[in-house]
This record gives sequence, structure tokens and C-alpha cells, in this order.
Amino acid sequence: MRAAFFLLCICCLAACEKAKQDMYDQPRYKPFAESNLFSDGSSSRTPPDNTVLYSHGPFSDTSSGRAGTAEAAEDIAAMQAKTNPYPVTMALLERGQDRYTIYCLPCHSPAGDGDGLIARRGFPHPPSYHIDRLRQAPDRHFFDVMSNGYGIMHSYADRVAPPDRWAIVAYIRALQLSQNADAKNLPPQVQQQLAKAPEGPR
Ligand code: HEC
Repeated sequence: MRAAFFLLCICCLAACEKAKQDMYDQPRYKPFAESNLFSDGSSSRTPPDNTVLYSHGPFSDTSSGRAGTAEAAEDIAAMQAKTNPYPVTMALLERGQDRYTIYCLPCHSPAGDGDGLIARRGFPHPPSYHIDRLRQAPDRHFFDVMSNGYGIMHSYADRVAPPDRWAIVAYIRALQLSQNADAKNLPPQVQQQLAKAPEGPR
């Protein structure tokens, strides 16, 4: 009797497995398969011109793509921000430094004076970030230059995500400050050290 019950259970579970398999084997087109439903003979449709990728991120190729939604919302918020929407923390500056080093430093140089190695080897020199016009330019100007390109500099929109663009803006502001700081704003111990330095405070 027990053996019969056991057998029944096995049969039921096997059926269960069969039902699951049917979900996988349902009629559907495989990517790039032929179809006579559409006039071009292909089952795959080409997205309309100017289609913008919406879902992205590590899980965007999963079937629903929903995991990328929060990231897409963050990108949209970052793109709409008029000034840097993030608090300027050490983590943000480090992220900005990291991205700047990869994407901007080869032309703009570590100090941001526009004398990067690519410029030294013949590419037109970018302007220095330490000129008055760029010191006074709003944060959004730097964001827009990265998003849209500027003159002969091409856009970095496809490589630098909007939140990272703001991290780079924060880092460029730090670079600007590094070359244009008022000694009076330094902590007292550093001011004392500076006074003892051979050149004295400038
Ligand atoms: C391949 C070299 C190159 C790279 C890489 C590069 N730039 Fe530039 N950048 C230039 C050149 C050249 C100009 C001057 C363009 C012009 O005036 O036609 C420029 C101009 C600028 C300006 C000044 C715009 C103005 O108002 O005059 C900013 C700001 C800037 N780049 C930011 C960035 C940032 C941020 C990155 C990294 C995400 C970056 N650039 C990467 C070459 C580069």
C-alpha cells in the first residue's frame, strides 16, 4: 500500500515536471528566426529611429528587465539636475577622480591644465580648467560638455553614466580649488606649516 502511494507521488511529480517543461517549449520565435507574418520575412523587429535604451544595468538582459528600472530613474534624475545633486563626500570625489583618470586625464592632464599626453602628441590642447571663464562656469556647464561634447571634443554620454558625470564635476571643482585656494581657509596647523615653508604663503 505504502509502495503504491509512493509510486503515485512520483507519477504526480513527473507530471509536474512535464508541465514546467511545456512552459519552456511553448511556441515562440527564436532570435532572428524567419517569419512570414511580416513583409521582410524576419520575426525580429527593428526599433523605430531614435529609440532610447530604457532598462540597463547588470540585470537588463533578464526577461523582464525590471531590475534596471531604479538605475534608469537615477540617470533621469541626474540628467535633470541643474547643479550637482549629490553631497560632496570623499566617496564622490574618489569616484570622480577614478572616472576622470580614465576618461579625461589623457587630454586634460592630471592637474587639469589641458596638457595631457594626447595633447602633447598632437591633438589640439583643451583649455585649462584654471582659466577664469571655467572657474566661473556653473557645474552644469561641465556636465553638459561631457553629455553633448564641446567643439572638437566628442560626447562621453555613452561611457560616463549621468551620476558619474556629476562625480567628475565635483572632482574638477576640487582640481580648480587645488590651484586657486586661499591660504586663509586652510586648517591652522597647515597654515603654520605653510608659514615655515621656504616660499611662505602665497
Ligand atoms: C581626446 C581628448 C579629450 C578628452 C579625452 C576629453 N576632452 Fe575635454 N576637451 C578636449 C578639447 C580638445 C577641448 C576643446 C574643445 C574646443 O574648444 O573645440 C575640450 C574642452 C573641454 C572643456 C571646456 C569647455 C569650454 O567651455 O571651453 C571641458 C569642461 C571639458 N573638455 C571636460 C572634459 C571632461 C570632463 C572629460 C572626461 C569625461 C573630457 N573633457 C575628456 C579634449 C578632450
